[in-house]
Amino acid sequence: MLRIKVTYADRIGRLPKYIFAAIEELKAEKKREGIDLILLGIGDPDLTTPEFIVNELIEQVKRPENQNYPTSMGEQDFREAVSRWYKVRFGLDLDSGKEVTHLLGGKEGIANIARAFVNPGDVVLCPNPGYPVYENGATKLCDGNPYIMPLTKENEFLPDLDAIDKRVLKRIKMMYLNYPNNPTGAIAPMEFLKKASDFAEDNGFFIVYDNPYSEFTFDDYIAPSILQVSENHVEINSVSKMFNMTGFRCGWAAGNSDIVEGLRKVKSQIDSGGSIFIQKAVIKGLDQYTSEKKPEIVQKNMKIYEERRDILVNGLNDMGWKTEKPVATFYVWTPIPEGEKDDMEFVKKLINVGVVITPGVGFGEHGKGFVRFALTQPIEKIKEALERISKVI
Ligand SMILES: Cc1ncc(COP(=O)(O)O)c(C=O)c1O
Repeated sequence: MLRIKVTYADRIGRLPKYIFAAIEELKAEKKREGIDLILLGIGDPDLTTPEFIVNELIEQVKRPENQNYPTSMGEQDFREAVSRWYKVRFGLDLDSGKEVTHLLGGKEGIANIARAFVNPGDVVLCPNPGYPVYENGATKLCDGNPYIMPLTKENEFLPDLDAIDKRVLKRIKMMYLNYPNNPTGAIAPMEFLKKASDFAEDNGFFIVYDNPYSEFTFDDYIAPSILQVSENHVEINSVSKMFNMTGFRCGWAAGNSDIVEGLRKVKSQIDSGGSIFIQKAVIKGLDQYTSEKKPEIVQKNMKIYEERRDILVNGLNDMGWKTEKPVATFYVWTPIPEGEKDDMEFVKKLINVGVVITPGVGFGEHGKGFVRFALTQPIEKIKEALERISKVI
């Protein structure tokens, strides 16, 4: 049979090259050599979904009425639960009919929102380093132009809004912001959010506030919602990190009803929603919240991550690698040690001793010179990783 020649759409060609191939190869080689790799690369919680949520899911999946197609916008009781959560968590009143919509995890919403609002050539402000979906899955796959906002250590990993080229202002359609931030672990003060919101409103665009780490905060820090500043914007969140439910694919978009409506229009043509039984189980989780404080189940998780964070960061500092403790997220973002020249090369060195972390360049060009640790291994493994790292630096 003669094989037909397929050609990708031009937009596929605009996606960046897959830079992790060399790392994947090295990992496979080390595995073949019998080295047990300590995986501190991927931001997927090793802690498990709370038992009461899993039990609820089992009960709900047995019910025939929960076994049919869901609605793309999410079940009424799920949207009401999200709305209740915004009330107790942030003091906001959201109309579950118009201002909340279900997502198959935050990632899907981040990408699909661009389909509803970005025309070819439109500008989308994207933080860099940042979650790659803003630039790629969202903007480039909609033929938009990502405008890079560098997040630098000097500016506490907040974008310098005054530095944005005035010539692009009229073409900006939306701006992605994400605090608590992946990969930097940075948080945004309320004054910054106010400034960003004013800037967006003055220039006629909206903010897509990606907030999946809103509950992943240490000490007494309580992360805000962009909707507390202005309901002109839209916020995306999910239970992936909140309740260790990355595999369940359940999240939401909330805020400005026109934006929510745009997202619904797109999604209703693409997906048929998330399983009803998952949404019902998630309601149980969200209803644990009775105030802005994290419920016990989330606090317990954060205590575990806090201990891991302290052991890792203290350990790195003890060996002379200057590293700061994040106030939020389960990531430790740090410049490569003195004397090292390139984050990718440094990561390869660590894989050689069986420790896998992520090179900063994986989050964009402004991530170069940094690496990211994910605190997704138990303490013994983190200690073992420190032991191995000490042999390299
Ligand atoms: C910044 C950021 N946004 C969004 C997501 C997507 O999460 P999910 O699709 O599981 O809700 C992640 C996941 O790691 C993330 O780090």
